[in-house]
Amino acid sequence: MKNSFIRKCVLWFAALSTIGSGAHPYAQAQALSVKEKADRLFNRLAGYNLSLNDPRRARIESLVSQGRDLEAARIASADPNFFNLTVRQFAAPMSNRAESARVPLNDFIAMFIGVARDNRDARELLHGNFLYIADYNDPTFRASCTEASCLYSPSQARNMAHFTAIDRMNLHRYLKRVQPQRPDVSDAAGVLTSYAWAAAHFEAGTNRRATQYALQEFLCTPIQEMADPTLSDHRVRRDVDRSPGADPAVYQNECRGCHAGMDGLSGAWAHFDNQDLLQSGGVRDKMNRNSEVFPAGHITRDNSWVNLFTRNQNATLQWRGSMSGRGVSEFGRMLANSGAFSKCMAKRAFNRICHRDPSSTEEAIINSLKDKFEATNYNLKSLIEEAAILPACLGGR
Ligand code: HEC
Repeated sequence: MKNSFIRKCVLWFAALSTIGSGAHPYAQAQALSVKEKADRLFNRLAGYNLSLNDPRRARIESLVSQGRDLEAARIASADPNFFNLTVRQFAAPMSNRAESARVPLNDFIAMFIGVARDNRDARELLHGNFLYIADYNDPTFRASCTEASCLYSPSQARNMAHFTAIDRMNLHRYLKRVQPQRPDVSDAAGVLTSYAWAAAHFEAGTNRRATQYALQEFLCTPIQEMADPTLSDHRVRRDVDRSPGADPAVYQNECRGCHAGMDGLSGAWAHFDNQDLLQSGGVRDKMNRNSEVFPAGHITRDNSWVNLFTRNQNATLQWRGSMSGRGVSEFGRMLANSGAFSKCMAKRAFNRICHRDPSSTEEAIINSLKDKFEATNYNLKSLIEEAAILPACLGGR
């Protein structure tokens, strides 16, 4: 009885594995043919199907058949659509509060595309003083973009209009790097001082959201996971009730875990607000709001910050360099130098290109992607190519 059941299963499996599609989860994965691998690699990176008579096909298939997958991937990533679509979708969710990939082009996303295209160190996305806009001197661009906003000029409304006007154009060709990032910002810090980031995180509130999201987007760590009630709370601001509902234990056990570390870091944004003048010379009112709640709390007097999220579970974030500083650019540099940043970019690359999150058993794969990212001087294009050629990503038949 038992035997015949097993026999049936074996037969059933054998039958399954002969089915052409092979998509059944129980069927054993078989290696991809050269053509299948070339097709899948190209589609993942360039975002569309490689046609049968495309001149690149022969080169890609020949490289794949020789096991030179990375070189094959480089042909696909040289396609303008790799930047216009794949890098765009990699960056877009980090640029808005809803973490949606379906948002109009903005300055945050354009910086990612430009940095990837120009093979620059991706860490500058969190601390560099630059911007990517459309090159109005390119005659082809000028001929195809005829609205007034095709010519970039700074200010919230005009900035948005510019990026909307050039959305869906060949950004791989037209984006041009300019600096400084904006006239009103001496403490420019890549995407952290972009118009998109300001609209998402400096609007109203107390500038804590900018810290929360910076940790979430660039270290892939939600603030809840970083909460540590053992931290010194000397930086917790005056607006946080130390006895919510008349119960000091609630503050000690809940509020403090987040606010000790988060308020320590949030001084970085003290001069920023989502207003026409993004950065002012002094501390914004929002940083010291509701001071009567707990007058003995921390008063924000400057843009200094300190990183207290370094111990216990947060030691795994692999912080490197100085754990205190002033302003956004120094804050961004600290984030970008952490091992968690590299690992987060590796996870995001895997997710984008393999269309799924890495599983808990794929930790070693993500760590090796992370190491390669750092070894290539934080090259985003290489990171995405390396993710695309992973057997775990390409799958089998
Ligand atoms: C999981 C982390 C976390 C915990 C726990 C937490 N907070 Fe917060 N708190 C935040 C974040 C993030 C913000 C910024 C939210 C925003 O602006 O969108 C914030 C904002 C605030 C603000 C400013 C609100 C405003 O915009 O004026 C106050 C006040 C505050 N928290 C008090 C508390 C108190 C009291 C407790 C405990 C009962 C607490 N928080 C627990 C993360 C936390």
